[in-house]
Amino acid sequence: MTGTIEHVSITIFGGTGDLSYRKLLPALYNLYAKGLLKSCFQVIAIGRRDYDNDAYISIIEPWIREYARIQIDEKVLKDFFTHIYYFKMNFTDLNQYERLDRFYREYSCSNYLMYYAVAPAFFEVITEGVKTLKNVERPKIIIEKPFGETLEDAKRLNNKLEENFGEDHIYRIDHYLGKEMVRNILTIRETNPLFSKVWSKDDIDHVEISALETVGVETRGNYYDHAGALKDMVQNHLLQIMSVVALENPNDDLKQEQIKILKTLRPVEDLNIKETLVLAQYEGYRNEDKVDPKSTTETFAGLKLYLDHPKWKGVPFYIRTGKKLARREIEVVVTFKSAKQGIDPDVLVIKIQPLEGVYLEFNIKTPGEDSITRARMDFCQNCNLVFRLNTPEAYERMLFACMNDDGSWFSGFEQIELCWNYIESLKNAYDSKGLPLYSYQQDTEGPVEYEQLKEIQ
Ligand code: BG6
Repeated sequence: MTGTIEHVSITIFGGTGDLSYRKLLPALYNLYAKGLLKSCFQVIAIGRRDYDNDAYISIIEPWIREYARIQIDEKVLKDFFTHIYYFKMNFTDLNQYERLDRFYREYSCSNYLMYYAVAPAFFEVITEGVKTLKNVERPKIIIEKPFGETLEDAKRLNNKLEENFGEDHIYRIDHYLGKEMVRNILTIRETNPLFSKVWSKDDIDHVEISALETVGVETRGNYYDHAGALKDMVQNHLLQIMSVVALENPNDDLKQEQIKILKTLRPVEDLNIKETLVLAQYEGYRNEDKVDPKSTTETFAGLKLYLDHPKWKGVPFYIRTGKKLARREIEVVVTFKSAKQGIDPDVLVIKIQPLEGVYLEFNIKTPGEDSITRARMDFCQNCNLVFRLNTPEAYERMLFACMNDDGSWFSGFEQIELCWNYIESLKNAYDSKGLPLYSYQQDTEGPVEYEQLKEIQ
């Protein structure tokens, strides 16, 4: 990340929410501490709670101390706080936007960015309110997934946003695209003939993308119980990664390349759904706070997908994600075809989180013998202090890109619609076949049914 931002005014709708505390404010602190945000920088945190500025700052301080990537410098932190304004308002009441508008007139700063860090049910009313602000010139809007509760919702909302702000001012964020190692997938593919020459069905046997989490639903039971693992993780983050892994021309426009791949996902009606999808729930989920005691929401999803693309015909892409699993791990495992029968295949692992790095496993001769053994090369990127210090957090990178009007790593609506349609069709097919919601114990690898799905040829 280069350059500095001289003017930016960031308004966070949902300033007292988990996303602001855990991700957005620490990311802004990081940018500030790196000297990337200059004189005219303000954060307006909107919330309904009855705090004054000091009370709000005392609440966010421990979160920043815990989650900021850059070591806290007391003076810098103190300066940073002088740029934070807590603004108490009920953003569902359109009458209150006039007061907010007066605030912008008094503390004017250009380059307005409105972050919708709230549930999608509020996106429309906030849009109505923002539209009425006279002192905010052409704001950029950052919206989080899910973009609505249903696809119909998402379309309506998208039209409204486009009509009011223009497509070039809408930033649909998927923070997985801001992760260092997700970006690195393209570089690894593009700059190494060792991989680029073998990146297709001719040499790759299968790919597995995993996002395993140890956490449960924490304080987000209400949201999560309506979403489930498919909508929360697969529809967005994991299909993003899959399309980055599979896209044909790493040098070309990312969005367009991703879309081309997503369009080749094998149609759901051509799949045997029983051999495609496994949904499961962890034991004890129904006792979680704000979760329906009879909930049938999945907390684990395992998929076996195919791309009907000339480069990928016949290559299974396994995807799995789940909460309350034994380990936290996000990675892409590419298993190549064996050189000949009885010989283990080469395996490339791109480690995304929490470890960042590249692991390669291949065959060598056992020293002093004629047999074959495995070589295991493990490059740990985050073990390198300089690399670690230079790696921005996903939100830090995405916020900075938006401040710089760089929408290249944000999603277009077509992409969202394609993913949404696909996941919805898969879920409908699963339900209409009456397939079960499996159960798994906490702190395990997830349901055995996913492993069984992988065994089906
Ligand atoms: C969010 C999901 O988008 O991503 C959460 O809503 C999930 O359920 C989170 O825990 C994972 O993000 P990260 O960056 O911690 O891998």
